[in-house]
Amino acid sequence: MQTQGYIFRDGIYHLSSEGQAWSTIQTDVSEQYDAWARQDIVHATTARKGLGRKDYTTLVSPNVRLWKEHFPEGRKVGTVLEMGCGFGRIPLYLSTEKGFTCSTYYGVDISETMLLTLQRYREQFGFLPGARVVLFRQPAENRLPLEDTSVDVVISCALYNHLRKQDVAKSLGEIGRVLKPGGVIFLDRSFANSWSTSSWHMALGRGRIPINLKPYRTRFFSRSEVVKVLRESGITAKCPSMVVRPAGYALLPTKVKWFSVPFAQRLNQWIDSKHPPGWMQRFVTTHYVLSSEISGQPGDAISPGRS
Ligand SMILES: C[S@@+](CC[C@H](N)C(=O)[O-])C[C@H]1O[C@@H](n2cnc3c(N)ncnc32)[C@H](O)[C@@H]1O
Repeated sequence: MQTQGYIFRDGIYHLSSEGQAWSTIQTDVSEQYDAWARQDIVHATTARKGLGRKDYTTLVSPNVRLWKEHFPEGRKVGTVLEMGCGFGRIPLYLSTEKGFTCSTYYGVDISETMLLTLQRYREQFGFLPGARVVLFRQPAENRLPLEDTSVDVVISCALYNHLRKQDVAKSLGEIGRVLKPGGVIFLDRSFANSWSTSSWHMALGRGRIPINLKPYRTRFFSRSEVVKVLRESGITAKCPSMVVRPAGYALLPTKVKWFSVPFAQRLNQWIDSKHPPGWMQRFVTTHYVLSSEISGQPGDAISPGRS
């Protein structure tokens, strides 16, 4: 770890402007997520209203399909890095439901409020038991204070769909640098599908809103753009076990502006429960996610070279 240029305060390493200047957009995004997290942290992380509830089920919410279906049970990891970790929703879920443990957890997030809340919830729920938890408040697209090839597993959820494409490329490049060869990667809700018939209305309006006014607005990617950015970042070469997969399927938007689309929800549930044919998947995939195929048994370590 190289923390020169960081200020250590309240258990968090803050990237200082002397270390690397924050752009106006980064400062705006940070302030907006801080404000949003103070208002309703569940909404800020999952887009579902928390309505003041802070129990485990509300905090974790149902948006955990990739982790539920593809993350292995009871596995130990050396070093894990989470990008855009928020209040720690994913490690909270993995520790509680999958018996996940690691020796070192690095959490990166642009919002101080999110990271302070992660510390609080870790005490409250006891997730990541026994791990050394190191938190960095910085933009994910800036250089990480970690050595080359020093991380075993990288995880992220709902970060990359909110970043500008040039920042996605920079951040994935950093992951490509710090990940060990043969390392493992899980990126959930990262690449909203630009061909999806269920979000054409959002994709059409995408250029209109300045990022600093709506930092959480969704960016869209085609599958080939995802494959390209992963190859160029060096991640594909390091993670031979990685798969780009559809997260789920939907045919129609459930709402356009304030209007509900009749039968859309039922139709989407139906199509999501099927396995649409190959030609159709391009249009009904809601977003693409990444996961590594991991061999071994519960109790085994997830470590590069073994996946
Ligand atoms: C939608 S939330 C998801 C949080 C968490 N991964 C989860 O699934 O609950 C997006 C998170 O990314 C953080 N974030 C947004 N832009 C960022 C950036 N450029 N660099 C680092 N973190 C960022 C926000 O502060 C927020 O915590």
